Amino acid sequence: MATLLHIDSSLNGDNSFSRKVTATFAEEWKRANPEGRYVYRDLDADPIPHLNADAYYGFSAEDPTPAQAAANAVTGPIVAEAKDADVILLGVPMYNFTIPSTLKSWLDRLAVVGAFPQDENGKTGLSDKHLVIATSRGGSYLPGTPRASWEHQDSYLKSFFGFLGLTENLHVLHTEMALSHVVPALFEFKHIFEASHGEAHEKARELAARTPVAV
Ligand SMILES: Cc1cc2nc3c(=O)[nH]c(=O)nc-3n(C[C@H](O)[C@H](O)[C@H](O)COP(=O)(O)O)c2cc1C
Repeated sequence: MATLLHIDSSLNGDNSFSRKVTATFAEEWKRANPEGRYVYRDLDADPIPHLNADAYYGFSAEDPTPAQAAANAVTGPIVAEAKDADVILLGVPMYNFTIPSTLKSWLDRLAVVGAFPQDENGKTGLSDKHLVIATSRGGSYLPGTPRASWEHQDSYLKSFFGFLGLTENLHVLHTEMALSHVVPALFEFKHIFEASHGEAHEKARELAARTPVAV
């Protein structure tokens, strides 16, 4: 049975563009996989505690201390959900040129010692997953734009998941110029928002309609 793990992190609730795109993907995926399993985390509503030494070292401890065991009770389900998923779907707003700290806390749990060890071929339990990232950002950071070098959102996620062995089957759906309706200096770029957000929904539907292992 195919499993979709859907993670949202925007603080904007129903007004969030990244949430709208992930919702489109999830809806279409469920339609295409009526028997599929769907797991959801809202990191804004239910944030994960920051990483500490008990969490980082405790996951691989043979005889965890009570504090490590308590931390492992948080980390264990997060790692298991990622291991069990065929498709991981992330809703990622840009905050201060990078990802939300709530999402960083989730990533930190995936990277604790012992969670995703490499096998002899350099593969991990994440290598065969499909990763779909729906970004939203107030400005535009695509290659060739003036602030392209300020982008530490999807480039960061690519590095992170590459470090954990997931280098293929990675799709990024961008919503650019999300603030072009509220910031006067960006009004002239509304068309970029409309086009990119429309395309993100379209790509989300198209990707989700394919079977989970062929995303
Ligand atoms: C706390 C905060 C920080 C932000 N920082 C940036 C930023 O560094 N660059 C940018 O282009 N937009 C920034 N924005 C605008 C958001 O990226 C934009 O509103 C985006 O649509 C948020 O995603 P969402 O619609 O899924 O909530 C920021 C918004 C908030 C609330």
